[in-house]
Amino acid sequence: MRSAVAILLSAAALAAASPVTPIPNGISVQTVSSGVVRLTVESNLAFRVSVGKNGPVTEYPFLDDSRPAPPSFQTVNSGSMVGISVSGLGSVMIDPNSTQFAMQDPSGTAIVTSRQLLQPSGGSSICDTARPGFDAQDPVRISGDNGGALSGQTQESCCSACDSFSECTAWVYAPVPDQQDNCWLLKSASGVFPSSDRVFGGQTEPPTPIVGSTITLDADSSAVYYGSGAGQSNAGTLSRTSGFEHVENRESDAPVYWSSQGYSAIGLQAASWQARDGSVVWSQVDDLYLIPAADIDASTRGMWSITGAPSMLPRWALGFLASRWGWNSEEYINTTLPQFRQGNYPIDAYISDFSWFTAQDDYNCPSDGWSWYSDFGYSNLTYPHPKEQLSYYRSALNMRMMGIRKPRLCNTELLSYARSQGWLVEGGLNGRDLNYSIPAMRQWYSKNQAHFRTDGVAGYWNDEGEVYYFQFYWWNLAEVETLQSLNATERFFSINRAYTPGMQRMGAVYWTGDINPTWQQLQITPGYMLNQGIMGNPYTTCDIGGFTSQTNALLLTRWYQAGVFLPIMRVHSTESATPHFPFLWEPAAANAMRDALNLRYQLIPALNSLAYRAATEGKLIMRPLMASFFADTNTHDLTSQWLVGDSVMVAPVLNENNQSSTYFPVGSGTWYQYATTLTHEAGTTEQLTNVGLDYIPIYARAGAVLPLGPVVQYTDALPGGPLQVQVYAGADGSFTLVEDDGLTSGYTSGNVRKTTFSWDDASSTLSWTVAGTFSGPNVFTSVAATLYSAAAGKSFPVPAKAIGRSGSFKFST
Ligand SMILES: *[C@@H]1O[C@H](CO)[C@@H](O)[C@H](O)[C@H]1NC(C)=O
Ligand SMILES: *[C@@H]1O[C@H](CO)[C@@H](O)[C@H](O)[C@H]1NC(C)=O
Ligand SMILES: *[C@@H]1O[C@H](CO)[C@@H](O)[C@H](O)[C@H]1NC(C)=O
Ligand SMILES: *[C@@H]1O[C@H](CO)[C@@H](O)[C@H](O)[C@H]1NC(C)=O
Ligand SMILES: *[C@@H]1O[C@H](CO)[C@@H](O)[C@H](O)[C@H]1NC(C)=O
Ligand SMILES: *[C@@H]1O[C@H](CO)[C@@H](O)[C@H](O)[C@H]1NC(C)=O
Repeated sequence: MRSAVAILLSAAALAAASPVTPIPNGISVQTVSSGVVRLTVESNLAFRVSVGKNGPVTEYPFLDDSRPAPPSFQTVNSGSMVGISVSGLGSVMIDPNSTQFAMQDPSGTAIVTSRQLLQPSGGSSICDTARPGFDAQDPVRISGDNGGALSGQTQESCCSACDSFSECTAWVYAPVPDQQDNCWLLKSASGVFPSSDRVFGGQTEPPTPIVGSTITLDADSSAVYYGSGAGQSNAGTLSRTSGFEHVENRESDAPVYWSSQGYSAIGLQAASWQARDGSVVWSQVDDLYLIPAADIDASTRGMWSITGAPSMLPRWALGFLASRWGWNSEEYINTTLPQFRQGNYPIDAYISDFSWFTAQDDYNCPSDGWSWYSDFGYSNLTYPHPKEQLSYYRSALNMRMMGIRKPRLCNTELLSYARSQGWLVEGGLNGRDLNYSIPAMRQWYSKNQAHFRTDGVAGYWNDEGEVYYFQFYWWNLAEVETLQSLNATERFFSINRAYTPGMQRMGAVYWTGDINPTWQQLQITPGYMLNQGIMGNPYTTCDIGGFTSQTNALLLTRWYQAGVFLPIMRVHSTESATPHFPFLWEPAAANAMRDALNLRYQLIPALNSLAYRAATEGKLIMRPLMASFFADTNTHDLTSQWLVGDSVMVAPVLNENNQSSTYFPVGSGTWYQYATTLTHEAGTTEQLTNVGLDYIPIYARAGAVLPLGPVVQYTDALPGGPLQVQVYAGADGSFTLVEDDGLTSGYTSGNVRKTTFSWDDASSTLSWTVAGTFSGPNVFTSVAATLYSAAAGKSFPVPAKAIGRSGSFKFST
């Protein structure tokens, strides 16, 4: 690692060092071989390096345009390097001659350095054009050796082979061989398409636009990378060696990572990266954002400083959501919703597929549409009186309704109008998909869709929009704009089949797509969400029980149990399957599902507090163990157990044989079995067999302070009684309970009440102080507590007291 002490450049020195020109938030440096490189500060936590271009900065949907202005910087130089430095953050510097750059910490120690930058286009070796995650369209192979199909190659030998044939203009490398071959040399290709297990290099005809350049960063040999997303093939692990922009059903990836070397990187736009041979090669990268980040918390904080903090969702979104395909008639809706209430299965909302707005789906709708189809209305089978019905379900049953949206039209008249305006995208379903990136189109869409909100539809479930990478982003923006035109302060909530960075700032939640009802899918579900979290998306959900066909009671029950600890808890099923509503399953399973829902609702106050912490401090709610215990390498790819907040860990049963294994990371202290005085020490593993149908393996760290609410049947019924604080003895600890109106953006301007509970282990005292003045019908007015002490071998409950502005419980153990 190079270490450099930077010195400030005087104005005169700056003028003498002529390659440097001041630009907003940074400098532009004229380099010898790569044209202009711009170094800028983008937030209080992030730098940007932009290679080979000048002029206005590209607008990326990734970025939060309303973020605070970045802090001031100073122009500095050190030896042959020139750059910018920000107090408390560090510096980025480049040598205009060698074109190598570096990001340094505030003490001048390099966090990451680059190799020589390449020419923006042309002139470089064909080996330097690698695009991980892409394959060739319409490949025509060379006529040489075996028709250009080679086996046993490395990526290097593959591209070198291409270099040695004059007719070879492109190559495709497969890390995992296809048949025997793993390298193909091409005479031509018409373009590239995303393919996660291929690497493409070279030229296409017509040329695939080269957005930016290749940037090669040096890498420590031990560096590991996280947070580029997940799909079916890799959701069960966390570490990655490549990443790229890609969305499809059951997969969302982004060109971002956190490196254990101590930084995060975001490459824009359409960039990809690959770790190999002691380096990270970024391809097609216009702008590279670099964030000093010692751990995942610093990484998400840094990413959100430029892509936007995650908005808090309405509080009810943290409750239970019951979706199915098949809410097909008014009578069915009328008779099904009350069964949740009659059986005491807590719930906040139900979610409808097609049938709320159309009796027939639009999969076979031709490109010129059907004259009778209604895109923005209601089906008369389900909602003959939409306003009255929605208001009745809401007031009499305390249930909100969310409806599916498709990214396309099917009504002939609307389609023909949209087509005449140029608002449709190529491809999509019969050419009927809308282009939400067009502002006038969004305005038109808002006008058509606004009545749903005033009629009482509480949120949207956006499906099948993976027609281009940023479609879901723009689609959600259209919906946010609709809401804001009606009510500028109300929180937005949607569920989406893809996530691209930036969506978290709107309140757009990702779900893992149309998965099968299998144990294997349950097993990879937590990993999907942990990967999304590291990528910068704290809010995820899944089709609990699996979507595509009939599930069974044991799988569904275990999935509910895992679901308690997922950011959003939602069931869903296909039309032909038994809906995943507890009361439709055998009593033992239904009872275990009720227990799971009861626990979820007890956790709502804590989850809401963690959601506030995510929005304001940049910390994930659902956390991989590696975020807290990275020093223990056993945690690096662990996805079968995870943390909720800092001190609750869950390792639910994810297999048919009723077994669970929980690893207690080295250095993590003592762990209690939830609500008991039984403990486990760091570095050990607990193997459970014959786990009962109603048991979830949950653990709390010594020092954990966990506020639980009483069991309520819907979130608006909070507080429902005294807050119940659990304290686990053996270490000091604290938790800040955050209460707010649960519905508006008031929390962003401080309209909250924060009650900080602190446990002092030495004096066995739990004390609290209240900050903030928010009050409302849902805040707690009294608090009770239970101390779990392994040393004493028993628990100590104390009765409720008024919360007031402060107070304490002293336990006599
Ligand atoms: C620039 O780099 C070249 C090759 O690395 C070297 O020969 C030359 O002396 C350098 N020029 C300056 C001004 O440092
Ligand atoms: C459904 O319930 C609403 C509210 O009670 C009622 O007005 C409506 O007639 C019911 N519809 C059917 C088909 O039962
Ligand atoms: C219900 O809607 C369908 C499809 O739009 C229509 O054909 C039918 O006449 C409607 N029925 C009633 C009772 O309005
Ligand atoms: C959507 O519209 C924008 C603005 O007209 C255009 O630049 C973009 O290419 C369109 N996207 C697609 C996928 O057609
Ligand atoms: C906006 O929404 C919030 C939350 O639902 C509500 O309290 C407020 O009254 C609404 N404002 C208007 C103008 O409708
Ligand atoms: C797992 O537990 C369920 C519910 O108690 C039971 O029905 C099933 O037989 C058990 N399976 C195994 C393999 O023990």
